[in-house]
This record gives sequence, C-alpha cells and structure tokens, in this order.
Amino acid sequence: MRKGHMIVCDGGNGAGKTTVLKAIEVHLQAKGRELVMTREPGGTPIGEKVREILLSPDTPEMCGVTELMLFAAARAQHVRERILPAIAAGKIVVSDRFDSATVSFQHYARGLPLDLIHKINSIAIDGFKPDITIILDLDPIVGLQRVSSRGEGLDRMEQESMDFLHKARHGYLEQAKNDPAHFVVIDSSQPLEKVIIDVIHVVDRIIA
Ligand code: TMP
Repeated sequence: MRKGHMIVCDGGNGAGKTTVLKAIEVHLQAKGRELVMTREPGGTPIGEKVREILLSPDTPEMCGVTELMLFAAARAQHVRERILPAIAAGKIVVSDRFDSATVSFQHYARGLPLDLIHKINSIAIDGFKPDITIILDLDPIVGLQRVSSRGEGLDRMEQESMDFLHKARHGYLEQAKNDPAHFVVIDSSQPLEKVIIDVIHVVDRIIA
C-alpha cells in the first residue's frame, strides 16, 4: 500500500482551477500535511520546458501525435522525478491536471485513437494512478470568456475551436461516468465558495 496520496484537479480552461488549487493548498497546510503542489504539463524543469513548446501559440502546425508524445514525455519525467518520490515519503501531491487531460483533449477533442492514448499514457505513468481526479465542469463558452477577460492572450490549446473545447468537456464527463471511483465532477458554474466547499469535502474524504 502506498504511503501518500495524489489528488488531481482538472477540467476546462477558465473553470477556476487556480483558485480551487490555492484553497486545497491552504486547507491541507492548515491540517499540517506535507504537500507537493504541481502541474501538467510541467512540474519539473524538463516538463516546464516541454510546456513552453506545447502551449506556444507560434507553432499551430504541431500535429496530434507530436502533441500527445510531448504531454506524455513531460508526464514521464513528472511521475519519476517528483510524484513517486513524494508519495513514497508520505506526502500529498496535488496536481493541476494529469492523464485525464490527455484522454479528454488528445482523444475526445483531437480525435487520436483511445488505444494509442492508453498505450502512450501507460508508458508515461508506469502503472501509477491518482487517488482521485476532481473535474471542474463548466460550459467552455463561459470558460473562454473568463480566460479572455484576464487579458493574457490565448495559448495554443485555448485557440482551438469551440467545438474542440466542447468535445474536451464531453471527454471529462465520459471519463467520470465510466470510472466513478476515481473521478468526481463539480459544477463550476456555482458560486466559487460553493465550488471550494464541494472540493474540500472530496479532499477530506481522500486523505481521511
Ligand atoms: P493549463 O493547465 O494552464 O490550463 O494549460 C494546459 C493546456 O494543455 C490546457 O489547454 C489543457 C491542455 N492539456 C492537454 O491537451 N493534454 C494534457 O495531457 C494536459 C496535461 C494538458
């Protein structure tokens, strides 16, 4: 049995992940738990460099398989360098996205075959599975409005069509429906305080 836990927060862009992750961090620190806050793509020096390649709006020509393998490459490093050692040390790893994003974006939205996604993902994660993936669910039209209002410009993935973003949302909901033991969907159109209460409830159940 493993010593630590891994909690993933995932979902559409603009669904409030950053605020929710901060609330999880504050909550777990107040409980005196040892934490690793991390993200995908990224989480390691190599992963952060891969992130720049993946999200740069300057390379719209990136093909789907390249995209899949780069997300997986960053994940392979993340799992081995950061996640597994932290879990072995009894820490709680909280990640902004993980493998659920690949299934949603590269399979459901991009259209790459599911068996290819599973093959590549399983090499990256090597049998590892998060305890829970919390999906913040929001209509992508609302999510994109929130992202645009930040005035930071859109990354390569955020520049995809609304149809792509709707398919990704559907992908998250399908994953949650197919694996209710490992996924929880939280309605992100609720007031933020309610979203945070719902998320903390899930976190407390996992670490109890
Ligand atoms: P964000 O984490 O800053 O929201 O941006 C990451 C973007 O990359 C987001 O649009 C989701 C996308 N993504 C994938 O397409 N596949 C993946 O495996 C991961 C981790 C993220």
